Amino acid sequence: MNSILVTGGAGFMGSAFVRYLLREYYSQRVVVLDKLTYAGNLENLASVAADPRYTFIHGDICDAPLVDRVMAEHHIEAVVNFAAETHVDRSLIEADAFIKTDVYGTYVLLEAARRHGVARFLQIGTDEVYGSLERGSAGEGDPLSPRSPYAASKAAGDMMALAYHVSHGLPVMVTRSCNNYGPYQYPEKLIPLFITNAIDDQGLPIYGDGQQVRDWLYVEDHCRAVDVVLQRGRPGEVYNIGAGNERPNLEVVVGILQGLEKPWSLVRHVADRPGHDRRYSLNWGKIASLGWRPSYPFESGLAETIRWYQENQGWWRRIKSGEYADYYRRNYGHRLTTS
Ligand code: NAD
Ligand code: TYD
Repeated sequence: MNSILVTGGAGFMGSAFVRYLLREYYSQRVVVLDKLTYAGNLENLASVAADPRYTFIHGDICDAPLVDRVMAEHHIEAVVNFAAETHVDRSLIEADAFIKTDVYGTYVLLEAARRHGVARFLQIGTDEVYGSLERGSAGEGDPLSPRSPYAASKAAGDMMALAYHVSHGLPVMVTRSCNNYGPYQYPEKLIPLFITNAIDDQGLPIYGDGQQVRDWLYVEDHCRAVDVVLQRGRPGEVYNIGAGNERPNLEVVVGILQGLEKPWSLVRHVADRPGHDRRYSLNWGKIASLGWRPSYPFESGLAETIRWYQENQGWWRRIKSGEYADYYRRNYGHRLTTS
């Protein structure tokens, strides 16, 4: 039986996609290749660990001999590349791993996919590659204008993937999604950081004026979008995945505080992120024409997410008392005393 290789499958969105595949497709085999960086967590895959259709391989997508072996031994027919360094703030501190994984690692996967005649290669991209938009929405053909080392490394990965389609006929598709949120998101990103801080009555550090706009997609909707593109997307094409939930950050904060019945006094305005992108917005008519629509209104997705973090405190408390605590103290310790 052939298998789908999900790289980065122990992270937030990759693990949601693995759980989705095993739930939705009775005979699907899924191989996860994940380096288990600070963001990778086998607890995210605990619910499928005993499933005979699932295999976990601990390894780096930059390791070409390993990637080659995985593709051969598991008869990989499709690759979905979620593996990446993903946090803008970390890319501002140290971009090295972003270039290695998001650019070189993507190349290693493409090269192996070409050699092994993989039938579908889906590169998971981000709306951040279009840069900050004052008005309007980015279409798939618009010029890329990445403004952080994270966005630049993701843009390079996209370009390499599309080049493999043109140069080698590899059946590559690229998706570019807006901000995802939901269960199992590492608590350094806005929504899980603020929910978990608020549960503990800790300050919520808003960068700058908090009027930056993001479009918010519930992670289950993203899984269905990826599935639609895998099945019905055309090789060589890019598909934007938007949600229709554009919100200024302060409005998201209001939703979190109301959902948890916590006071506004937890909000702290801190120094802005350098080069902070003001607004992302996607035109996602192309994927809509494949029959996909998001199904979660932001308010119900946020309520589900808040409930999950309330009910799974062990999951995020282990993270926040470990790697995250060190990272935060090293880089943002001064904020702990800001009011
Ligand atoms: P995440 O940070 O939660 O998880 C990344 C996963 O990749 C982790 O399991 C990590 O261990 C693994 N990984 C990192 N480097 C690796 C390497 N060299 N080899 C193998 N595995 C490696 O990320 P996420 O939020 O789930 O994002 C997944 C993908 O979706 C990324 O490509 C990201 O750029 C893209 N994306 C994310 C968002 C968002 O809102 N989170 C939005 C659009 C696109
Ligand atoms: P983030 O979750 O890091 O996603 P991205 O930067 O990839 O969109 O941030 C979402 C928005 O929230 C972004 O405008 C930055 C802002 N933000 C804060 O104001 N404070 C925070 O502590 C974090 C992590 C983000």
